[in-house]
Amino acid sequence: MATLPDQTNHQALLDNRTILVIDDEEPIRRLLTYLLQSHGYLVEGAGDAREARQKLGDQPFALMLCDVNMPGESGMDLVRHALAEHKHTAAIMVTGLDSSVLANAALEVGAFGYIVKPFESNEVLIDVANALRRRRLEIENSLHRENLEDIVRTRTLALQQALDWLKHTEKELRLSREETIQRLAMAAEFRDSSTAQHIQRMSHYCELLARKAGLPPERCDLIRTASPMHDIGKIGTPDHVLLKPGRFTDEEFGVIAQHAEIGYRILSGSDSELLKVAATIAYTHHEHYDGTGYPRGLKGEAIPIEGRIVAIADAFDALTTQRVYKPAFGLSHAIELMLKHRGTHFDPELLDIFVASIDEVARIHNQYADLVNPNPTTDEP
Ligand SMILES: [Fe+2]
Repeated sequence: MATLPDQTNHQALLDNRTILVIDDEEPIRRLLTYLLQSHGYLVEGAGDAREARQKLGDQPFALMLCDVNMPGESGMDLVRHALAEHKHTAAIMVTGLDSSVLANAALEVGAFGYIVKPFESNEVLIDVANALRRRRLEIENSLHRENLEDIVRTRTLALQQALDWLKHTEKELRLSREETIQRLAMAAEFRDSSTAQHIQRMSHYCELLARKAGLPPERCDLIRTASPMHDIGKIGTPDHVLLKPGRFTDEEFGVIAQHAEIGYRILSGSDSELLKVAATIAYTHHEHYDGTGYPRGLKGEAIPIEGRIVAIADAFDALTTQRVYKPAFGLSHAIELMLKHRGTHFDPELLDIFVASIDEVARIHNQYADLVNPNPTTDEP
């Protein structure tokens, strides 16, 4: 990519009045040099193409007046070369032959004019002035275009950086939101059996089941993120109930069962889609498909699908995890036990989908296996 000259260089480029006169006839060179110098131009002369190439390489010329027929390389070839190599140099051909074919050839190689010898002084001066004006316009256009391209480049880069920053921030925000949720969920469950791995397994089982059930990807992601909060209502369960070893009395069962409603009260009322899903899950994850669950005894598809999904994932994780009062059941045994409650506790179709996905379920189970034996637990109803 060409680097733009700075403002000073621009002006120097536009103000350049240096002209290279190339002609093998010395009197013509002298005549042109005198004429142009007497009108304020800086002039250098060259007797052939080789000398001209050397001078063109030594300094920038605004214009070259070039003879067509010279010994060695022709003026036409020299101009073709010079215009390709020195993009800010203009050219006018000077020749003894008044030929329209030659004139056209000169214009085709990029010359701005064609002067036939013998010439009038005014004719030369007018052609030179015109060629320099045209050169100036072309340079200004080119600089303007480059300037515009540079502005577009700069703004595109700034936009790209802003987008990258936004993506980074969005990712940070999402990760921090998920981590906050997981840590809050762990804090709520810290008093009983839950571990970080339980939270991870639960949310991934839920996401897997939601995906296999054909829910849209955004919904699956919401369920994965919201499901760790399913038991957040246990914050409101007194220790003497939550931590009680052994079975619950009916009264204690009633107290612990309140965690679904407490969780709902904590999470509901938000405009956030995530918290709405989390509230639904907290409220409905202990409902049973046949209507025998709690807190509202909802039945069948009246139970939101998020609640039916979490019910399966939660039960499966409880069965396959070691607790103080029971060993971890193998995956097949756990599935066998759950199938006994197909259509009563669990949504039959969702349970079938979960069972059919057992290979992926097992991968999640192994990936987020508990690192140490969990703490003593209560037997949540
Ligand atoms: Fe629960």
